Amino acid sequence: MDDDRLTGPCRRPIRSKRSLGQQGIKGSYCRSVRPIASAPFFCPLLVSCSGIQSALDPAGREAAHVATLFFTMLIGGAVIWLAVVGLLFYAARKRRVHSEKGAGQLILWGGAIFPTVVLAALLAYAVWLMPNIRPWFQGEAGSVRRIEVTGEQFWWRVRYLRQDGTVAFETANEVRIPVGERVIFSLKSPDVIHSFWIPVLGGKMDMIPGRDNQLTLMAEKSGTYRGVCAEFCGSSHALMAFTVLAMEAQDFENWMAARQVASGTEDMDGLALFLKQGCDGCHAISGTEARGTIGPDLTAFGERGSVAAGTLENVEEHIARFIRDPGAIKPEARMPHFSMLPDAEIDRIAAYLKGLR
Ligand code: CUA
Repeated sequence: MDDDRLTGPCRRPIRSKRSLGQQGIKGSYCRSVRPIASAPFFCPLLVSCSGIQSALDPAGREAAHVATLFFTMLIGGAVIWLAVVGLLFYAARKRRVHSEKGAGQLILWGGAIFPTVVLAALLAYAVWLMPNIRPWFQGEAGSVRRIEVTGEQFWWRVRYLRQDGTVAFETANEVRIPVGERVIFSLKSPDVIHSFWIPVLGGKMDMIPGRDNQLTLMAEKSGTYRGVCAEFCGSSHALMAFTVLAMEAQDFENWMAARQVASGTEDMDGLALFLKQGCDGCHAISGTEARGTIGPDLTAFGERGSVAAGTLENVEEHIARFIRDPGAIKPEARMPHFSMLPDAEIDRIAAYLKGLR
């Protein structure tokens, strides 16, 4: 019987002990197969080193410093671990009796001086790196982009601010930033503590009720990334993510300009149904009479990558499911269910929302 198996993400077939034994190479099994057999355990670790949400695959300046610090510590730790394991084997095999003076020297150098020097060097390196990981903006006050993000239960209110601090426009569950420009995030929360974290761009920062915490980040590579909430904030803590689009400066300017013009809608029947069912009590859509502020702003909703803050792909079927029963998808979401509406009406509203550009 052929015992070939695929080893998860590695896709490398390994042979079982039995089948190798049948082929008469039993003795070499341990040496040849063990490293390969251990691969499935390490592959998931390596896979998590890249991707849209990996602090070890940086796309921003602050995240690059964090990754450098991590790899420096990892390599340093690995070297010391190997040295200690080497000494362990040496001590186990060579049964040499050391003089009292020699043993004392070993304890002094290996047990006191060496760890003190290494730990002091690592501490000095980390302290030196700290201002780079959490920089305060030092340029002219008027020259920096400011975005206010508020952690809601369980979604993200995103407001683009003008230089005078007033709100230019609002969106939700999506943060767009220009590449190569420092952005100051003003982080708030009305009720519980959340934590704003875009792993590929930098460290996290708590959003605390009554406070305005500032975090500055700078994207260095354009792309689409994922941000998450990093502080337990309730039943749907794990279901509040957001999309981060790092755009080339000119594309970003064009998008900003377009968003500041009321977009309106061509689907007047869809809008009429949206208003008739009272969706505008909570939601706003620029260029229409919908001006609710309790829930996410739905302007250009069709362009967003997800429904329910990173929970579902943005397709009509998922929008309809969420309208029908938000709590089934996102426990303790504050949006009421609309399962009393006929399916045709829910589908019509979903189609209207998906069509918003
Ligand atoms: Cu918001 Cu966890």
